[in-house]
Amino acid sequence: MIASPRPNSGPPLPPPSPEALAASEALTALIRSEIAAAGGWLGFARYMELALYAPALGYYAGGSAKLGAPGDFVTAPELGDLYGRTLARQVADLLPAGGDLLEFGAGSGALAQTMTRELAALGRAPGNYLIIEPSAELAARQRLRLEALGLGTRFQWRSTLPDAFRGVMLANEVVDAMPAHAVAWTPDGLVERGVTLDASGLRWTDRPATGAVAEAMRTIAVDLPPSGRYESEINLAGPAWLRAIAASLAEGALLVIDYGFTREEYYHPQRSTGTLMCHYRHHAHGDPFFLPGLQDITTHVDFSALAAAGANAGLDLLGYAGQAQFLINCGITELLARTDPTDVRRYAPLAGEAQKLLSPAEMGELFKVMALGRGTQEPLAGFAAGDRRARL
Ligand SMILES: C[S@@+](CC[C@H](N)C(=O)[O-])C[C@H]1O[C@@H](n2cnc3c(N)ncnc32)[C@H](O)[C@@H]1O
Repeated sequence: MIASPRPNSGPPLPPPSPEALAASEALTALIRSEIAAAGGWLGFARYMELALYAPALGYYAGGSAKLGAPGDFVTAPELGDLYGRTLARQVADLLPAGGDLLEFGAGSGALAQTMTRELAALGRAPGNYLIIEPSAELAARQRLRLEALGLGTRFQWRSTLPDAFRGVMLANEVVDAMPAHAVAWTPDGLVERGVTLDASGLRWTDRPATGAVAEAMRTIAVDLPPSGRYESEINLAGPAWLRAIAASLAEGALLVIDYGFTREEYYHPQRSTGTLMCHYRHHAHGDPFFLPGLQDITTHVDFSALAAAGANAGLDLLGYAGQAQFLINCGITELLARTDPTDVRRYAPLAGEAQKLLSPAEMGELFKVMALGRGTQEPLAGFAAGDRRARL
């Protein structure tokens, strides 16, 4: 996701339309009633779930643009088709004969469009392109875009994983959008951060961590900073999602692409205020209570947790690399070189796209690619150099 960090001072954020504001107020009323029904305190994961996915009102369920220039953030597939064409080379290698593709959270459908075209051009078109998309609004947009392609690939939208899936699964910036628990390590013990209401609105309130959250926190070693408080997030939904994938995948691989780190880097002493990030009209900031339903809320991905869940469920860890390294391994520079640099009108946008995808200051280093699979041939081209799986 690309958006500029919001400075502490500066011009106010663009105001929402009256209709968008009314939808945000309706969602806030729903959240207020859940807080009351829960006895006055709601865990942050449930707040995030409502803010993003409450039917008709949550950020992903509602009608706002979300992705691309008119929306709140830009993802790699939205930059152009260089990303999808490069990724397709790895997918083509991994796809078993007669296998299918399954994309989680396909956003605007941009990656599905590029992937389908490129795989067809490589003579490796999948039989079916399945999409699991919790947002009915995005699924409708994807249908409109993809069913018009007419490339012979059958698109299917489904709400559950298939049995005995053979093929390649893709999750581009999906795990960061799963509801995560907000937590803090303090001298007084383990704390779960939740949401309460006061006269000024929604606010953060701690309570002692219990159950699965406390259990997960105990497996993570953090150094308390001088302030005495180390805040972070724990995404329990991601490992659960991976266990379900492991139960579904008979042959093939899953590629997870997202921003995040190994566990050691995630819970690094210097990251003592966590990774929670909100996106509104291309501004990134840290207030999840700003206009609920009108902004995206995300956390970075703990790739070690996903790798461990995959290994425990019997999947092979096939590779882990920074996005730039992975795309270079897959031949992005060779694809770029196919366009004549003197043809500035065609070359300049591609070079700009490559710069955003590869630069360590943009998506090249913060974003990682992880592959897990069953019954696949190693080594994978995307991890031929710079494979960091031993660090997970
Ligand atoms: C940040 S958007 C990314 C969209 C797209 N993949 C892209 O890169 O442009 C997150 C997407 O993940 C979807 N999502 C969230 N949780 C999901 C889950 N458990 N399974 C499938 N999709 C999910 C959201 O509905 C949304 O489409």
